[in-house]
Amino acid sequence: MPAASLESIVSLCKRRGIIFPSSAIYGGLGSTWDYGPLGVELKNNVKRAWWRSVVHERDDMEGLDAAILMNRLVWKYSGHEATFSDPMTDCRFCKSRPRADHLFVAQKGRDPKGLAEINAAITAKELKCPRCGSTDLTEARPFNLMFKTTVGAVETGDDSGLAYLRPETAQGIFVNFGNVLDTMRRKLPFGIAQIGKAFRNEITPGNFTFRTREFEQMEIEYFVKPGEDEAAHQAWIDTRTRWYADLGLRPENLRQREQEKHELAHYAKRCVDLEYKFPMGWSELEGIANRTDFDLLAHSRGPNNPDSIAELRYFDQEQKKHIVPYVIEPSAGADRATLAFLCDAYEEALVKEPPADDIAKLRELVESFARSVDKRDNLEAATKTRLSEVAHQLAAELPGALPRLLSLSEDADANRIEVFKKVRGVAEKMGEEFTRTVLRLHPRLSPITVAVFPLKKNEPRLVEMARGIKAELQAEGLRTVYDDTGAIGKLYRRQDEIGTPFCLTVDFQSLDDGTVTVRDRDTMSQERAGRSELPSALKKRLR
Ligand code: GAP
Repeated sequence: MPAASLESIVSLCKRRGIIFPSSAIYGGLGSTWDYGPLGVELKNNVKRAWWRSVVHERDDMEGLDAAILMNRLVWKYSGHEATFSDPMTDCRFCKSRPRADHLFVAQKGRDPKGLAEINAAITAKELKCPRCGSTDLTEARPFNLMFKTTVGAVETGDDSGLAYLRPETAQGIFVNFGNVLDTMRRKLPFGIAQIGKAFRNEITPGNFTFRTREFEQMEIEYFVKPGEDEAAHQAWIDTRTRWYADLGLRPENLRQREQEKHELAHYAKRCVDLEYKFPMGWSELEGIANRTDFDLLAHSRGPNNPDSIAELRYFDQEQKKHIVPYVIEPSAGADRATLAFLCDAYEEALVKEPPADDIAKLRELVESFARSVDKRDNLEAATKTRLSEVAHQLAAELPGALPRLLSLSEDADANRIEVFKKVRGVAEKMGEEFTRTVLRLHPRLSPITVAVFPLKKNEPRLVEMARGIKAELQAEGLRTVYDDTGAIGKLYRRQDEIGTPFCLTVDFQSLDDGTVTVRDRDTMSQERAGRSELPSALKKRLR
């Protein structure tokens, strides 16, 4: 079972240095996140796996790293200045600012035909504020999602220094089409891949790193001859689906969703979303669109664009004429993919059955916690109901619910209740012995590939050999750590929780015959292997 709730992922990420709330010491900044020591390794591995698969392992792709700040005209001719916006309305009664198109869909059960239809519904008082129920809403206005900044040292007070933080990496690729075509002597079909930050002033960010205002995209623009676009599009849909599956996303949690006509962006001929079943429901991981010749035409000099100096086109030797290529765009999010891999890999499980007496004692404590919640009158009604329901359910489902009970230790409201401290103490002790949290990440994605432990930290020969093995494996390019800060069982559990696929233990037999114990995260099996075989044996398991 992958993660049942986003909270368990958020809690693990915070506890184990994967992702922290940003600027937390100053109260944070809504929906911005910092990748910690293990998170940066994980996200880098996701990006590396993507780059390897779409650039290095293909003969028809090139890479690019374009600037985040671009000439403002890029965003004029791409259409973002005029159309990259969400329609917002203000509630005059409670001062909230909901998205008007979302209100329309939620309350009328269908998509609006445009801003005019949304405003007609607002004027007719057919839409209500989702927060207070008032129909006193202002006319909906488009709210542009691009972050503005000023280029240069002087604030001029006019628009002359205006620039935007790019809302997508794609445009950096389109405006470099000619450069890459000429310098790399490419023939169609070929593509350009880019990984980089993008910024959107999202109205409703949320669900952890799923929707944020600053995020990283992994985008491909694949240029083909018109007429060859449909087959290329389908090939990319299949390739990109396989990439997620090969890196471990369970097939039942991954699907392709064909966008309906009314959902398609104005430039798109067809678009298929790859969706993952996140704990909050099926949501987009990546969009794969056929953008036709829209972008290259938009940025080419012509009657609609007197500012560009380029004609972004291709000389077709067969037809002996210039053509404007069509573009297939597989556009993924590095943060979203990382989150999906985390959710899919997360597992909390009992490793052995605790004694019935211990469970009975724990159940009694949880029930007494539930009674205590029911009696409290200084808790908000919603919190009381939530905690009471959770406690009754956990008590009924022990011992299987022990891992979930352990996640409750992160709950600030539960910790406000005195008896919960006892529950937590007992649950944590049992948890140590009977449960484990494991991230079953693909070994190529795990933040750490190998952890090496000496059986005893006060035995210099074991420490020296363990440190030596760590150095050898690191030199082979395997991310390896040394740890001697606990008993071996505890060290295994810590590595399980962050997804380390292989743990090596150096013991006294190692000193005699040069073998170490290799413990596998997923099967928990332990085998002995010779020191010299380790690099090749472990590398083989990374493929
Ligand atoms: N160039 C096309 C484009 O940008 P998009 O569907 O807006 O298309 C592509 O974005 C991908 O970028 C999404 O599938 C998602 O993975 C990621 N993405 C978009 N907005 C995001 C946000 N606010 N937070 C995190 N990831 C986001």
